Amino acid sequence: MLDIIPLKKAFLDELNSITNLSELQQLRVKYLGKKGLVTSKLKTLSTVSPELRPAYGRAVNEVKDYIEEEVKKRGSLLKKEEHKKRILSEAIDMTLPGKFTPFGREHPINKVLYEIIDIFISMGFEVEEGPEVEFDYYNFEALNMPKDHPARDMQDTFYISEDIILRTHTSPVQIRVMEKRRPPLKIIAPGKVYRCDVDISHTPMFHQVEGFMVDTDIAFSDLKWVLESFIHSIFSVETPVRFRPSFFPFTEPSAEVDIGCTFCAGKGCRVCKNTGWLEILGAGMIDPRVFEMVGYNPELYTGFAFGMGVERVTMLKYSIDDIRLFFENDMRFLKQF
Ligand code: PHE
Repeated sequence: MLDIIPLKKAFLDELNSITNLSELQQLRVKYLGKKGLVTSKLKTLSTVSPELRPAYGRAVNEVKDYIEEEVKKRGSLLKKEEHKKRILSEAIDMTLPGKFTPFGREHPINKVLYEIIDIFISMGFEVEEGPEVEFDYYNFEALNMPKDHPARDMQDTFYISEDIILRTHTSPVQIRVMEKRRPPLKIIAPGKVYRCDVDISHTPMFHQVEGFMVDTDIAFSDLKWVLESFIHSIFSVETPVRFRPSFFPFTEPSAEVDIGCTFCAGKGCRVCKNTGWLEILGAGMIDPRVFEMVGYNPELYTGFAFGMGVERVTMLKYSIDDIRLFFENDMRFLKQF
């Protein structure tokens, strides 16, 4: 019976050095498991003399209960501690900066392109599109530029084959629309065009917006009003506008339209070559030959057409002096719009 006391003491010593739940579990098995130290004492009960047996049995059971109680107490303590440790180790620092996903933004050319489209839509124009890979017929022939016409030299053309090219301007959309529709027409046709040319003001691909209006009595004054309204809207109401006589095979009469230089306010500078004016688009009254090509009666219908470069408008609007900046994809440049 006396061997029960050292067992209890041994257990207490071991309990003191326990630091986690799995050690505690091992300790429990060591004393109370099937082959545990206390359990085996209970099994020897039958070898104890009958007089001592009840007292001895009580003593062993007391130690057993004691150990069970201690293990339970220490267990819940360790559980609490481990929970606390886990919470601390999993803590999130809410003051850390988040992961930043950069936003995309509209390219300046698209921004101005959509501005141009919006202005014409507000004046009642419809938007039409045409293919970038185009037949020679629509790009030149039907626009009164037969093969070997000297005006073809002005547009450095990318040839796919003898008859198929990359369109050099958006004017072929005039032909495509007029072929399938009848007047009255009030159309703009935005899109990409291609010319074999690179320098400070030319890139092999650039954007144009074509515009045209056809009805029974469209006059040059309508063209002037539409273009002046557009220019005053996209630049400012004070921007001076000037029509200068010019030549295009598909318009007669033809004009080039200038605005007061946006770099020097018309005083004269390097950009406007001291003239105070900058060219922004080509325009004119649709040539009767073009109407004949699409089967319209030129005695019945008149119309105007114009075409502008979107890169050029953007450069004048934001005082940018090198067209190549639009295509270099330098974020420092693009972020400014
Ligand atoms: N297509 C001409 C060009 O690209 C511009 C233009 C369009 C001129 C319509 C007159 C009428 O140069």
